[in-house]
Amino acid sequence: MFAGFLEYSIPQRARKKGLLELELHNLRDYSANRYKSVDDYPYGGGAGMVMSIEPIDRCISALKAERPYDEVIFTSPDARVLDQPMANGLSMCKNIIILCGHYKGVDERVREHLVTMEISIGDYVLSGGELAAAVIADAVIRLVPGVLGDETSALSDSFQDGLLSPPVYTRPPEYKGWKVPDVLLGGNDRLKAEWRYEKAVERTRERRPSLLEGQDASRQ
Ligand code: ADE
Repeated sequence: MFAGFLEYSIPQRARKKGLLELELHNLRDYSANRYKSVDDYPYGGGAGMVMSIEPIDRCISALKAERPYDEVIFTSPDARVLDQPMANGLSMCKNIIILCGHYKGVDERVREHLVTMEISIGDYVLSGGELAAAVIADAVIRLVPGVLGDETSALSDSFQDGLLSPPVYTRPPEYKGWKVPDVLLGGNDRLKAEWRYEKAVERTRERRPSLLEGQDASRQ
């Protein structure tokens, strides 16, 4: 499931530049039983299997014996939803473990004793935590200094200043009668900056008004 993510785009560039190491670990390799199983029947009954604590603990302990980890993240739909400030914070970490949750559930003791942070990527349920882990990793990796060619480009992302990004245009100035706004074609940088800010506020008000709560105070 991680192959495409690891082989293409920015995470791959970051790895090639030596800015990042990313390793996958299969919990089955840490199973103590001969069937290499990583789940078991739930106490008290109920449908489905539950991921066992032992292989997870053995895996995390083996990794921690090699180096310290800043966070052990668990992906789950019943956690706080990932946002840009969380991604910013995680990009400051040196080492992170992301434990992929499973739709059938994970022994609660894992969450109580082994995990330091839980993250959801949105209010919908995926069939496993792998895609969520890839989303979290991508959001964080692109913020690591040096990963993006243009250092300023992550700073001008949507959400970095609590606003959605303004629209952008490139050549030609007119296509099928559809025009680039005049202000962007002119030479006045101050007017262009004002236009971008106004459009960012307008777009945020229209599409994600909740992001503007508290925004006015911080701008005054
Ligand atoms: N696992 C299943 N659904 C998820 C979600 N929305 N976020 C994170 N992990 C998940």
